[in-house]
Amino acid sequence: MEREAPNKPTEEDKKIQDELRASGDIPAHIAVIMDGNGRWAKKRALPRVAGHREGVGSVRDIVEACGQVGVEYLTLYAFSTENWNRPQDEVSTLMRLLLSSLRDEADRLHKNNVRLTAVGDIAKLPIEVQEKLAETMSLTKVNNGLTLNLALSYSGRWEILQAVKAIAEKVKHGEIKIDEINESLLANNLTTAGMPEPDLLIRTGGEYRISNFMLWQLAYSELYISEKYWPEFRRSHLYEAIRDYQSRERRFGLVSEQVRRRSNGGEKSLAAKIYETITGT
Ligand code: IPE
Ligand code: IPE
Ligand code: MG
Repeated sequence: MEREAPNKPTEEDKKIQDELRASGDIPAHIAVIMDGNGRWAKKRALPRVAGHREGVGSVRDIVEACGQVGVEYLTLYAFSTENWNRPQDEVSTLMRLLLSSLRDEADRLHKNNVRLTAVGDIAKLPIEVQEKLAETMSLTKVNNGLTLNLALSYSGRWEILQAVKAIAEKVKHGEIKIDEINESLLANNLTTAGMPEPDLLIRTGGEYRISNFMLWQLAYSELYISEKYWPEFRRSHLYEAIRDYQSRERRFGLVSEQVRRRSNGGEKSLAAKIYETITGT
């Protein structure tokens, strides 16, 4: 089937995106803790689900803007391991909303050259959600624009545990020696294997915590907390977060002098290179 042309930014938006690319590095990987749906709804005397529904609009806008500005990976924390303990009706509403959003958005993602991936304990999700996810991932798997990575039934501790178990199995079967367990082996056994670590973590809803998200991968990410609730967080707020990111100096434990010495003219992904040099990965 012939794919439709991708959505283009407006002239004004394109100008902002060009300026952002000219003013510094665009983070290769942005991870987002999409928080504050319930409070957004409460403020308007609406049921919590209204906030989750409105939040889908933010997902659409942020995915599109990230693709256009040149972000390579966007991980969205959509449902945590701990969120299964919310009231049963909220959990089932969230699952239904996930399913209907996947149905509604699959063609748009494909049209916009987005590749969909997912991390988390996917087998715990309702079977229809698993099927729709698999179908959309297969539809979009050859796309080479933004990778949209959904964290579903995900938690950092769950992920590290399953990596440890996988490594223990390999040791048990003599496939690897204990001495061979290093950072890159562990990283390769996480569900994010093959993805760069997040350069920028955005949390909406104004709270200063990680809530069991990407505990390993966030080691040197820049943190940006937005006071906006997720349903009101749109591309202008994303641009603000990227601008803020560009004003930071990522030092990876070094001193400023060393970082500047390694910099040759603001080359892209300099930070990643420094980190690779340090960790030998
Ligand atoms: C984030 O919004 C969505 C999920 C965790 C699924 P919340 O539902 O946590 O909203 P608040 O934080 O209660 O406002
Ligand atoms: C984090 O939000 C999880 C997601 C956004 C999916 P929570 O609302 O679950 O986190 P806490 O309870 O405020 O730490
Ligand atoms: Mg919350």
